[in-house]
Amino acid sequence: MTRLLLLAAGLSAQDAGNPFTGARDIEQGKRHYRFYCVNCHGMNGDTGRGARLTSKIRRHGTTDAEMFRTILNGVPGTEMPALRREEEVVWKILAYVRTIEASAGAADSCEATGGDPQRGRVVFEGKGGCLACHTAGARGGQMGPDLSYAGTRSPAFLRESLLDPSKEVAPAFAGVRVVANGRTVEGVRLNEDEYTVHLLDAGGRIHSFRRAEASKVERLGKSLMQAYDKTLAAAEIADVVAYLCSLGGGK
Ligand code: HEC
Ligand code: HEC
Repeated sequence: MTRLLLLAAGLSAQDAGNPFTGARDIEQGKRHYRFYCVNCHGMNGDTGRGARLTSKIRRHGTTDAEMFRTILNGVPGTEMPALRREEEVVWKILAYVRTIEASAGAADSCEATGGDPQRGRVVFEGKGGCLACHTAGARGGQMGPDLSYAGTRSPAFLRESLLDPSKEVAPAFAGVRVVANGRTVEGVRLNEDEYTVHLLDAGGRIHSFRRAEASKVERLGKSLMQAYDKTLAAAEIADVVAYLCSLGGGK
């Protein structure tokens, strides 16, 4: 049977739940997880750029069928890739992911960040100036990623994003510098084709350039977000992390 047929069979059978949940399935799932998922989710599911798997809060659904589809198809428009493997592999990985979820304890809760989400919100909307570039809920800027579901990320990743934003830059939000007609503009690329480049700057302005007039278009190689280790106190960082952790229903 071709892989496509296997996938089609898997899709119709999903609703019956995971048929591969034995100890050996989990062991094999763990090996696949280590190969395919660990870079973004961490071996324990609580580090990295991917969603936090030590929580049961899922933006894309918690049932076996929903998580099967998330792992098989990825999340379009995000870094979560489709896993192009047979349904059996997807199910075994899911069986392992369930053991990660089940292992989540108090240390994985937002409370363990040691911060206060209410105070964090005040910093986020005030002194931190985060809304200039980020949406959280209904309002905010577009230059950085939407943080409305930041609570699906690990507190470790959120903290690192604040202290060292250039360490891992979300590819869609990588900074670009364009020099054209004696002007230099830095921003994120909105879209780009053979003839034009459109940038969104930190002030929310859109700049459009014809390629012919741009003497330079270069990747910055660093985030357009500043590191907050100097501007915010350690307690304020903890508060902001606690606030981000609460977004999207995090506990
Ligand atoms: C290149 C990085 C990357 C890889 C590799 C990756 N993921 Fe993800 N994953 C992400 C990101 C980023 C998200 C958050 C997507 C979003 O914004 O909704 C995510 C989301 C998820 C979600 C959904 C969480 C939710 O809130 O519903 C699950 C489940 C998941 N990943 C499991 C896996 C598994 C299992 C693997 C390995 C087969 C894997 N991921 C591989 C980056 C990755
Ligand atoms: C000048 C615009 C700007 C400001 C102000 C700003 N950010 Fe960012 N932020 C970005 C950009 C651009 C990225 C994507 C590049 C990267 O990953 O560093 C980002 C990434 C992030 C990420 C990682 C999200 C992901 O999905 O990868 C978090 C978390 C974050 N910012 C939180 C904050 C918080 C909290 C504040 C306020 C204390 C803040 N940012 C202020 C522009 C900004």
